[in-house]
Amino acid sequence: MNAVRRLHLGVDIGTSSCKVVAVDQEGAVVSTATRGYPLHSPRHGWSEQDPEDWWAATSACVRQITTALPQLGDEVVAIGLSGQMHGLVVLDADDHILRRAILWNDQRCEAECQAVTEAIGGPAQVLNEIDNRLITGYTAGKIAWLHDHEPDKFRRTRKILNPKDFLRLRMTGQFATEVSDASGTGLFDVANRRWSPAMLDAVGIPESLLPTVVESPDSTGGLLPEVARHWGLSEDVQVYGGGGDAVVQTASMGVVKPGDIGVTVGTAGVVAAVAETCPENSGNVQVSCYNAPGLWHIMGVSLSAAGALQWFTDVLNELPSSPDVGFPAIIDLAKDIPAGADGLLFLPYLAGERSPHYAPAATAAMLGLTRMHGLGHMVRAVIEGALLNMREILDAFADLNIPCERVIASGGATRDPFWLQTMADVFGIEVVTMTGSSEGGAYGAALVAGVGAGTWSSFDAVYKHLQVSARFLPDRHTADRYDRIYAGYRNLYGHLAAVYDDIKIARGDE
Ligand code: XUL
Repeated sequence: MNAVRRLHLGVDIGTSSCKVVAVDQEGAVVSTATRGYPLHSPRHGWSEQDPEDWWAATSACVRQITTALPQLGDEVVAIGLSGQMHGLVVLDADDHILRRAILWNDQRCEAECQAVTEAIGGPAQVLNEIDNRLITGYTAGKIAWLHDHEPDKFRRTRKILNPKDFLRLRMTGQFATEVSDASGTGLFDVANRRWSPAMLDAVGIPESLLPTVVESPDSTGGLLPEVARHWGLSEDVQVYGGGGDAVVQTASMGVVKPGDIGVTVGTAGVVAAVAETCPENSGNVQVSCYNAPGLWHIMGVSLSAAGALQWFTDVLNELPSSPDVGFPAIIDLAKDIPAGADGLLFLPYLAGERSPHYAPAATAAMLGLTRMHGLGHMVRAVIEGALLNMREILDAFADLNIPCERVIASGGATRDPFWLQTMADVFGIEVVTMTGSSEGGAYGAALVAGVGAGTWSSFDAVYKHLQVSARFLPDRHTADRYDRIYAGYRNLYGHLAAVYDDIKIARGDE
């Protein structure tokens, strides 16, 4: 007789959609559902979403899975949560949402980040407190913005949550987060895995406004009876900590040992590694607690990776006569162009940059244009620029003594072998993809929940189920060529930084 199947639901609240996956005890994905929701940008640099939309999408996805296959409902033992990191959700004393959530890619709080940094004694002191630079993406600056610009809402705030933890509250009634998302608030002492009293003081909030912090595989309680009933699940289903998407995505790729580097090429490019001690951060990378207790996670987030190619594709599709070309057709244009795009270089700072250079005001550039360059050159330059930029993050890792022997790649763009082969050539190292990780944070959250529920005794036990699905080795000749290109490429940001003020004048915002 077959043993009863154990299923783990991973829920991921992304920036464009919610995804739910059901993963069995062999690590296989047995069902998935996704549902999109709007992103609001009421002003330049603002980025907001309605938490009710997240909840409605999550509920619809879970119900889609349990309605289509009702027996799955009985097999689900655990839920793990993942989501876009850093976002600010504020609730009043009755748990009513006070305003739309302010998201990770919202840039409104630069002044507040500076003020908090000064209040605490400067950038070095901030690094000392939270092992990170206080960047505009993090939650802390958004709280300070609320205090300065919407004082009434700030006064009425009784709970501060990141996106996935708002779902947890709705699912379980528990006010809790876990260490990886807490690490991205700018209020967390990452080295010691606890809130930083000094940062809370500088931002002006008591700890009671913040959730209890658990390790990622810890349970945060069972489903509320009305939620369990509505979703067709048992009230015994426990909801586990889970993880911030960029961190738990690394967990979904099986990155646990030194030498392995996780690279996720989505809108942003995330280069990530794992360490046994909390590394000294000079401020160009982000350090978080990892989902496996006792480990830390280092990542460099380059804000425009596949997002740069998406922008280029959108621009091409603006032509009235354009036949709405998609990614595969655009990428095809680049395939016959030689490595280095005949001297065309692209710096991908379309949304400012976080890593390898922390430069919110940086803008993108295409350099080296001549009459010989056509569309294919530009596409190739955009892809190469995104990858050369990520190679600089690998260099920043090397400065922190983090070795890179193999890249495990994931993310939407890695469905195309051209991106993966170009990555192997630009980095000059082996690139592999793994089964499962194409489902991203949702898959990682399901694995974390499975460890919490005892389906697997440890992360090592989970990773026995992950298989290499494809392998790309650098072509020596092409990799040598990229080594030479990279030597010049890495100087370009320094040259460009000198012209950003002139660009501001041209934009009229000096
Ligand atoms: C990580 C980051 C993004 C968001 C959105 O620091 O800002 O990956 O989590 O996905």
